[in-house]
Amino acid sequence: MKLIIENDAGTAATAAAQLIAEEIGAHDTPVLGLATGRTMEGIYARLAQAHEQGTLDFSCVTSFNLDEYVGLSAEDPRSYHYYMQDHLFRFVNIDLHRTHLPDGAATDLDAECAAYEAQIARSGGIDLQLLGIGDTGHIGFNEPPSSFDTRTRCVELDEATREQNAAMFGGDPNAVPHEALTMGVGTILDARRLLLVATGPAKAGIVAKALEGPITPEVSASAIRLHKNYVVILDEASAAELSPATLAHAQRNA
Ligand code: F6R
Repeated sequence: MKLIIENDAGTAATAAAQLIAEEIGAHDTPVLGLATGRTMEGIYARLAQAHEQGTLDFSCVTSFNLDEYVGLSAEDPRSYHYYMQDHLFRFVNIDLHRTHLPDGAATDLDAECAAYEAQIARSGGIDLQLLGIGDTGHIGFNEPPSSFDTRTRCVELDEATREQNAAMFGGDPNAVPHEALTMGVGTILDARRLLLVATGPAKAGIVAKALEGPITPEVSASAIRLHKNYVVILDEASAAELSPATLAHAQRNA
């Protein structure tokens, strides 16, 4: 593991954006796995800024997002399709035909999930998968327990996750869709490199569990420790509950 601890959420986002930009530059046809959520907003803002400044070209990038709510169309402002347009795609020169998210409004959800897996395989697999971590320890929407060989599928969202994401739904956890389509833990582990980013004090406990606790389907994010090429970028607040032994290995950019 490469563990990088930045001062605050802003510098953590800058470090993550830099790493993503390097990955894009390292391939003729980069394939990125993307995430949504509050943690990603600063990262996408910095990628958009780099594009605007002429230093980052998305024309050859293919992307696959981790997840989407069931029942929301791409036009729904609360959907992850909409989020990606709003936070990244409309600001950069990515070919929209090369952007992919699972279709939560599909009539046959199982067929949609199988097709999504096939599309990832046809693209040659994901070079870098960006990940956040949820309050339940989920990556993507892999709620506990999610076995490490799971593939893209329909899952039921935990109540804690609906609470975490209620802000987009008028603050009402019950208004958050109860189901989502998500890449599985196995799909995520197939990516050639993983980048997990967490910021803020609310993530400190689950970050420590994921990085230092047992590697278990009860904490999906702990699965990243089975990967041979993964980077974790934290800010000081989200790193606050890590042990001195873990912190001793961290690269600190204070
Ligand atoms: C979203 C996703 C989730 C989030 C996680 C953290 O596409 O895959 O795993 O990354 O729930 O969300 P925030 O950043 O809002 O705390």
